[in-house]
Amino acid sequence: MAPLDMKPNELEPYWLPFTPNRSFKKRPRLFSGAKDMHYMTPDGRKVIDATSGLFCVNAGHGRDKIVKAIQHAAATLDFSPPFQYAHPAVFELSSRLTLLAPGDLDYCLFANSGSEAVDTALKVALAYHRNRGEGQRTRFIGRERGYHGVGFGGISVGGMVANRKMFGNMLAGVDHLPTTYNRSKQAFSKQEPEWGAELADDLLRIIGLHDASTIAAVIVEPTAGSTGCIPPPKGYLERLRQITEQHGILLIFDEVITGFGRLGHCFASERYGIVPDMITFAKGVTNAAVPMSGVLVRKGIYEAHMNGPEHMVELFHGYTYSGHPLAVAAGLATLDIYREEGLFERARSLEGKFADAMMSLKGMPNVVDIRPIGLMCGIDLEPIPGKPGVRGYDALESMYHDHDLYVRVTSDTLVVAPPLIVTETQIDEITDRIGRVLKAVA
Ligand SMILES: Cc1ncc(COP(=O)(O)O)c(C=O)c1O
Repeated sequence: MAPLDMKPNELEPYWLPFTPNRSFKKRPRLFSGAKDMHYMTPDGRKVIDATSGLFCVNAGHGRDKIVKAIQHAAATLDFSPPFQYAHPAVFELSSRLTLLAPGDLDYCLFANSGSEAVDTALKVALAYHRNRGEGQRTRFIGRERGYHGVGFGGISVGGMVANRKMFGNMLAGVDHLPTTYNRSKQAFSKQEPEWGAELADDLLRIIGLHDASTIAAVIVEPTAGSTGCIPPPKGYLERLRQITEQHGILLIFDEVITGFGRLGHCFASERYGIVPDMITFAKGVTNAAVPMSGVLVRKGIYEAHMNGPEHMVELFHGYTYSGHPLAVAAGLATLDIYREEGLFERARSLEGKFADAMMSLKGMPNVVDIRPIGLMCGIDLEPIPGKPGVRGYDALESMYHDHDLYVRVTSDTLVVAPPLIVTETQIDEITDRIGRVLKAVA
């Protein structure tokens, strides 16, 4: 064993997540600081952050109010056991989140990552049905190209093939709705495309195959994010809500990306006037300063669990770090900033400008589709024939090393999602830099 005071600093031992490790280690991309709209590199460059970290730093980086709240919490109550005990601030955060949520989503469970929030929601769906004497409702319906994190629950209902194919059979009894994306019918649509609402009716086919009485829940992202930003067709989510309600099936909106302003409202549910049965959230709840996630749950679901002897645990589920004091402090400070600076409204007011800016990239080399919605946009590039993902990776390297730009790249798709504090000038700057990158990798 090496002595504890040894300080090696090699690239090799760290196995980077969702990263081609060998390429990365040949030419690393490092960030060593961050403030507002920018990352700093170790060699002193300022890189504009056009994807809010990973769709999570919605209020911009290094916000003083959040930093101070975390510092204070760390010095006051470093940890409080979440099982059988609680700390006062966790009630305040739950109250504020449930007030922000639509309808009677009046209860809040906490976890630490989007993946855990998804697992939590799926388990609550099963427990809810069982508590009501419908324990045979065990089937989950996800969607092709959906992303719900990397837990076994999330990859089972998720629909991104690379995230699934290595990992065996996953959860049994999962079906998938078709993706709502069809380039020939929707290319270069601004916001919700006109075509595709009828794809929600595929749920009726699945119900016809298995019978509604076997289905626990449908889970979808209101706008699919990680797969490359796919906004829902007009009327599609409303139709899903109608069908699930008619058949006693729970509807879970996974708002890990769309929550906290990305689509111009606190939750995308509000944009569509829909009350889902559960909302999973993460990322923007703490502006990503401390990991936190959770599930907002309708009153009836909570109440269905409140039976049995009162000294008994009602839901055998939770995490050591559920409602961690540092995360709660960060969450409360983050919600203050969203309110004080009107950031959700700001996202809404910038949506048109942002969409126009992104659409101005139409006609640039290899751009085959652009899909803006709220302050998020997918830009598909034509893959190099026989080499999927290579153009995307080239773009990633070019951005970091040559253009001081950070945009999330997934295969040959760029996903732009700047912090909600972005200015109109910065939107132009981001657009201009993307244009230069596209030319560089043409
Ligand atoms: C919709 C959605 N659900 C779940 C997750 C998983 O979140 P995490 O990476 O925090 O586990 C993500 C992450 O991007 C997501 O976009």
